[in-house]
Parts: sequence; C-alpha cells; structure tokens
Amino acid sequence: MILSQALQSATQTLLKAGIADASIEAELLLGYVLGMSKTQLYTEPERDLTRTETSHLQRLVQRRLNREPTAYILRRCEFFGIEFYVDCDAFIPRPETEVLVEEAIKLVHHLAQRKEQIEIADIGTGCGAIAISLALAIPQARIYATDISASALKVAQVNCRHYGVNRRVELLQGDLLEPLSQPVDMVVANLPYIKDCEFEDLSPEIINFEPRIALAGGKDGLDKIHHMLEQMSGKLDSGGFFLLEIGQGQGEAVTSLVSSYFPRASIRLIPDLGGIDRVVKVVL
Ligand SMILES: C[S@@+](CC[C@H](N)C(=O)[O-])C[C@H]1O[C@@H](n2cnc3c(N)ncnc32)[C@H](O)[C@@H]1O
Repeated sequence: MILSQALQSATQTLLKAGIADASIEAELLLGYVLGMSKTQLYTEPERDLTRTETSHLQRLVQRRLNREPTAYILRRCEFFGIEFYVDCDAFIPRPETEVLVEEAIKLVHHLAQRKEQIEIADIGTGCGAIAISLALAIPQARIYATDISASALKVAQVNCRHYGVNRRVELLQGDLLEPLSQPVDMVVANLPYIKDCEFEDLSPEIINFEPRIALAGGKDGLDKIHHMLEQMSGKLDSGGFFLLEIGQGQGEAVTSLVSSYFPRASIRLIPDLGGIDRVVKVVL
C-alpha cells in the first residue's frame, strides 16, 4: 500500500466509527508509524509502506477504534506549545488549562517587582504540564509539584528530566497542600472537578482510559477544592495568589466557598477562549 492510500483508508475507518477529526487523527497515527511530520506525509504520497509499517498502523487504528485517546497511543501531547510525555497513569492536559498558566505568568511579573525568587506550588500536577510550563517561562521560579498518585509523579519526572528542570521543580507525593513544608507565593491547581452525576455523560476516551482519581470531584465536584481551602492556612504568604481551574457552571459556588474561608480576599473569575468561566483568581 502507498502512503496516500494508507492515510485515506485510516481516515475512512475512523470516520465510520464516529471519531471526530478523523483525518487529523489518521495523520497523527500514520506520522507516528513512519516518523514523519504532517508536511512530509503530503510531500511523499507515493511512498510504499512496508508490511511491518502497515500492520503497525492497523494496530494503532484498532486501539483508537477501542476509544483509547490518541495522546496515550502516541505517548505524547502538546500543552502551552510544549510536547509532554503522557501515558495512562496521568491525565491528558487540556487546552483550557493554558488560561491558568497564562494568568500565573502575568501574576509572577507582578510578584517579581518585590521578590527575586518566586515560589509556586502546583497541586495535582499529573504529568507536570503546568509546573514545567511555568518553570520554562519563569527562570526565577522554584516550583513544588504535588500529586497523590505516585504513578502520575513518575510521568512528571520523565518530563522534568526531559526539559532539564528537575532542580527547580520538586515533585512531592501527598494529599494536596500537605507536602509543602513552607508557605509559597502562589498556588495553582487544576484539581478533579467532575460531579458524580456527570460521569455517565463522559466520553469512553475519558471514562475508560484516564485515571479516575484525576477526575472525580464528589457530589458537587468541589470536594478537592474544598479540602484544599481547608489546608490553605500557613501554606500561602499574605499578599499571595492562588489560581484554581473550575468546571463549567462552578464559578458562583467556588467564589462563595473561597469567600467563606477568606472573607477579605479579592476573587475574580477568568473565562477561557470559549467564554466559560474557567479560572478562579484569588488574592489574599
Ligand atoms: C485534572 S488532573 C490535572 C493534572 C494536571 N495538573 C493538568 O492540568 O494536566 C488532577 C490531578 O490531581 C491529582 N489528585 C487527585 N487527588 C489529589 C489529592 N488529594 N492530592 C494531590 N493530588 C491529587 C490527580 O492524581 C491528578 O493528577
């Protein structure tokens, strides 16, 4: 089979199975098998695939038909313009979380006027996407990245080593803020916030493959956020910031929860590109 036929056949198979963006997914799978970029795929349409390449592609397409996320099949995903290693032990970073990273970087510029070294805690770091994006963007930042999941932290460690930030990003296993031994200047967190009743509506890609511990937020989705607020005392310097990612429609509930713990804090909701309130920004 030649490359253009393989691409067309994979696209059709994925399309028939109802996979959204079938042609993009087919390009990713074929590009991975052949070690080619998207552009290369279209500049060598007549290239013959070997038998091994053809059966490798078929195996990957079958995995995708079983609804395994492409990021887990390829063991990589892109976040904030950076490529991360990811496997089924860690949540796949989502584009909407980039809003939180952008906001954190803006706040650090503000903090940098009064401090040389900025200490940041990334709570529930998963594959380390937020922590590493911040470490690469802010050379004077020292980051404590916590997660309850030892296997997620192993994924984060691969990424920290790959980007050479393992001296500035300290990975700590434990419950939310508990592993922090001293107060930091900023806390950022994308904690699990899916409500129990929303699980039945999740796609098979999420429900069957992503770690449940990365998703489940309890009855109202706010269990982890609530628990983190309970732990906050002594973990954030006064005048410090915290940024929380939230789910659609959770803005009002989280705002009132935060103000019940910190009545004098300034609280703002920041929308994502789709106009959905996505980040709660709190200044203590
Ligand atoms: C939604 S994922 C976010 C991962 C990553 N920060 C990102 O944005 O891609 C939530 C993460 O919180 C972690 N987590 C869940 N419960 C936790 C707890 N009690 N303490 C620390 N981390 C927790 C999960 O293991 C998971 O890695």
